[in-house]
Amino acid sequence: MTLTLPKIIGHRGAMARAPENTLAGFRKARELGATMIEFDAKLSRDGVPVLIHDETVDRTTDGSGAVRDMDVDELRALDAGGWFGPEFAGERIPTLEEGLRLALEIGLAVNIEIKPCPGREIETARIVLETARALWPADKPAPLISSFALASLEQSTLSAPDWPRGYLIWDRPDDWRENVRRLTPATLNVGHERETPESLADYIDTGLPVLAYTVNDPARARVLLDLGVSSIITDVPDLILPII
Ligand code: G3P
Ligand code: MG
Repeated sequence: MTLTLPKIIGHRGAMARAPENTLAGFRKARELGATMIEFDAKLSRDGVPVLIHDETVDRTTDGSGAVRDMDVDELRALDAGGWFGPEFAGERIPTLEEGLRLALEIGLAVNIEIKPCPGREIETARIVLETARALWPADKPAPLISSFALASLEQSTLSAPDWPRGYLIWDRPDDWRENVRRLTPATLNVGHERETPESLADYIDTGLPVLAYTVNDPARARVLLDLGVSSIITDVPDLILPII
């Protein structure tokens, strides 16, 4: 398993610059200089992986309701860009397949965050990985597959044992080291707001690359990199790239 990580990863595309988890957002991240993006994948009611962060469509589209209660055709009928700015009106919730195809076309590496609706952790990981593996070329560096859901990461070890996994941490659980042993992640993806130099040192001591999210202040990004963080996941690639 080869894992080459850039210093900067665009969060949900470039979330502060274009609507999150949209194709326009991924293009914007690339334009701003990102070479890798993170996005969130969950299942529609009819089992199609789509890119959206929340459990409902309310915040990021012109519709309302739970993603788990909507088929992909209903989700695709929504406007996922106009809320951010009129120039993005008409953007759709992408399917995972569309997101990955665009990433390949414009030369972006990807971090797929599996963000299952509660109760669909295993199914979501299984279908996301089936979909991604069916189209991702074997000669390209494999996507980094991350999740807060341990059951999704566990399923990833079965569905894509050779693809790198990122163990997402917000409130560090007491048994995090045990989880690392069990889930054999390639990276630790940690919420920087919760971490101290000491806690970051614990992660770095594992020998795994540490990715910090979501860092939008260039001075903070510099501190984290100096402490040994490998990559910064950011909403504003244009602000963070100059300090690299
Ligand atoms: O993968 C890093 C980050 O995206 C995790 O949190 O809530 O923004 O998906 P969230
Ligand atoms: Mg995410």
